[in-house]
Amino acid sequence: MLKGRSLLTWLDYTPEEIRYLLELSKKVKAQKEALRRFSGKTLALLFEKRSTRTRCAFETAFGEEGGHPVFLSTDDIQLGAKESLEDTARVLGRMFSAIQFRGFKQATVQILADYSGVPVYNGLTDDFHPTQVLADILTIEEQCGASTGKHLVFIGDGRNNVARSLVVICSKLGVHLTILTPPSLNPDPALLAHGHSYASSSGSRLTITADTAAVAGADALYTDVWASMGEEAQKAQRMRLLKPYQVNQQLMEKTGRSDTIFLHCLPAVKGEEVSAEVIEGPQSRVWDEAENRKHTIKALMLATLGLDN
Ligand code: CP
Ligand code: NVA
Repeated sequence: MLKGRSLLTWLDYTPEEIRYLLELSKKVKAQKEALRRFSGKTLALLFEKRSTRTRCAFETAFGEEGGHPVFLSTDDIQLGAKESLEDTARVLGRMFSAIQFRGFKQATVQILADYSGVPVYNGLTDDFHPTQVLADILTIEEQCGASTGKHLVFIGDGRNNVARSLVVICSKLGVHLTILTPPSLNPDPALLAHGHSYASSSGSRLTITADTAAVAGADALYTDVWASMGEEAQKAQRMRLLKPYQVNQQLMEKTGRSDTIFLHCLPAVKGEEVSAEVIEGPQSRVWDEAENRKHTIKALMLATLGLDN
């Protein structure tokens, strides 16, 4: 169904395709026997920014089923330095079955997809983090049941790659999403317009607010770092802006529920966007969420390499 496709953002995936990947992820997670589905395949892992979860998820998911992943940081490979990106993409496409890219510009991952001729996976750019939010929805479904009609509140920098990816995936799948953020960090209007149009078909409610009362009744609260990779210079200003939005026990209690789960894509800065009490507490599901990165990424690679049946 998805053979040959890249995943750069969820914008060009139908709700049925996303659901297919979620169901395949559940199946993959339940498979305990050693399979060799990636035998004879190769995966290039290109990193301009650091990573723990994304790199390890791709590398272990691919390697444990007989594939050969090759890690290439910007110290190892020409990525627009000394050689055009288009040329690097064409060469990689002749040697690898698929390419993962983590870095700054969305344009880079787009060029890799346009020129390599193999599936390209966005492992995070400044604009989107699509593989992350697939794992987030899987975690919500495991913990809370069907995600359609559930209410997720993302608290923090509403313009960042995780918030933007949630806008797209939630509005496609009928998940009610609130972005709780100060007005200066609202997601950009063009992306919200896409979200509202998907939401009108899926029945999702998309709300942008600065009022913490919006957490009332939520199934899940989700936060992310206040300054994303590459935004270190803005850290002090972000701290001032986002201090009232820390996810702490008081905010968890504002949901009025004791079964609201807490999610975080990680890495977390405890004491900033989340209190140690909440991330270490009984409502936290962040380790399940991190594990789910591997299962969802394996499902994505199986489907796009045509190895899913
Ligand atoms: N959540 C996530 O992408 O983590 P890494 O930055 O460690 O890959
Ligand atoms: N928004 C964060 C996500 C890290 C996984 C960043 O880009 O640094």
